[in-house]
Amino acid sequence: MPERFFNADGTLNNDTVNYVFGFGQRICSGRHIADSEVWLTVACVLATFDITKAKDDCCNEIDIDPNAFVDSLATRPLPFKCFILPRSHEVEENIRIAMQSSDCPPVFWAVGQRL
Ligand code: HEM
Repeated sequence: MPERFFNADGTLNNDTVNYVFGFGQRICSGRHIADSEVWLTVACVLATFDITKAKDDCCNEIDIDPNAFVDSLATRPLPFKCFILPRSHEVEENIRIAMQSSDCPPVFWAVGQRL
């Protein structure tokens, strides 16, 4: 739960989860790059896309079960439906240009309609 990183007043707490990078003399020397890359990736995705709950055939939002997780050392959510839509037509056009000039498979061409 992302909320675990917040204090009651909304400020960040000091839980930086540094143990994932190891300890002492063997601590990961790439941890700052790794942290920055994750931050950049999340910031880019949020700046580019609206991510919202999916809707059923009657246009009701489909709730996401916050407790549906893979139970393992590296936990992650089980698959769930959602809408991932470009935040604007300009963004959409930029994505199309980037996709056309890359080797990515054309999965993006199935981008859904804005509801
Ligand atoms: C989320 C990403 C990453 C995680 C979770 C991670 C995790 C770890 C961990 C746990 C160790 C310590 C292993 C031990 O105790 O022997 C380690 C070592 C190391 N990591 Fe990472 N790492 C990440 C990304 C990176 C990146 C991006 C780089 C390089 C750009 C990198 C370079 C290294 C190196 C060179 C070591 C060996 C350090 C040494 O033994 O002196 N890591 N990493």
